[in-house]
Amino acid sequence: MYTGLLHTHTLVVSLFLLIYLIKTVLLWAKPSLLEPFIRKTRILEIVVSTLFLLTGIVMALQTPSVHVGAWFWVKLIAVFAAIPLAVIGFRKANKGMALLSLLLIIYAWGVSETRSPRMKKSDYFGSLGPAEALVGVNTDRASQQYDPVPHGKALYTYYCATCHGSDGALGVAGAKNLAHSTLDRDNTKAFIRKGKNAMPGFGSDVLTEDELDALVAYLKVDMAAQQHPH
Ligand code: HEC
Repeated sequence: MYTGLLHTHTLVVSLFLLIYLIKTVLLWAKPSLLEPFIRKTRILEIVVSTLFLLTGIVMALQTPSVHVGAWFWVKLIAVFAAIPLAVIGFRKANKGMALLSLLLIIYAWGVSETRSPRMKKSDYFGSLGPAEALVGVNTDRASQQYDPVPHGKALYTYYCATCHGSDGALGVAGAKNLAHSTLDRDNTKAFIRKGKNAMPGFGSDVLTEDELDALVAYLKVDMAAQQHPH
C-alpha cells in the first residue's frame, strides 16, 4: 500500500514538475504559446496536483514521527510557498515569480530525496538521534573480544528499527519482514547501501564497511533466530 502510494506520488510529482517547467520556459521564451498550453493541460494539472497532495498527505500520516524531521516541514513550506507564487506568476505573466516558484518546487524535491534541508543525505541519519546506541559496545574489529552481532544489533536499533521494528517484522512504510528475507549476505549489503522505495540507501558516509558487516551478521544470525526459535 505505502509503496504503491510512493510510486504514484513520485509519478505525479514528476508530471507536475514537467508541466511547471514547460510553462516557465514558455513564459520566458514563447509567451504566445503559454495560454494555449495552459488551456490544454488544465484538467491534467488539476488531476496531477490533487493526486500530488492526496498521496503526500496519506503517506505523511503513515510515516513514524521520527522520520518526519525538520526537512519535512521545510519541504512542505517550500511547496506551499510555490503554489501562490505560481498562480500569481502565470496569471500576471511575471517571469521572476514563475521562476522562483519553479526553483522552490525543485528545491522541495531535492529536500525530499535527501531528507535534508541542505540536501545532504548524511544529515538525515545524524538527525535520527544521538548515537548513544553504540556506547559500551565494542566496535573495534581488530580487538580480540570483538563480536559483530552486538555491534550490528546496536547499529540496527539506531538506524533500522524505526521502520523494521526490533524483531524485523514491524513493516512501517512498506518495509519487508527481515527474517523472511531471501537475500544472501552480499545482496543484503548491496541492498542496504542502495536502498529501495521508502528505504533510504546507507552510503559509506553513513555506514563503514565494518559496520555494514556487523549489521548483516546481526540480521543473519540473531534476527533469524529471534523469529524462528528452535
Ligand atoms: C524509512 C524506513 C526504513 C529504514 C530506516 C530502513 N529500512 Fe530497510 N526497508 C524499508 C522498506 C520500505 C523496504 C522494502 C523495499 C522494497 O523492496 O520495496 C526495506 C527492505 C529492506 C531489506 C530487503 C529485504 C528483502 O529481502 O527484500 C533489507 C535487508 C533491509 N531493508 C535492511 C535494512 C537495514 C539493515 C536498515 C538499517 C541500516 C534499514 N533496512 C532501514 C524501509 C526502511
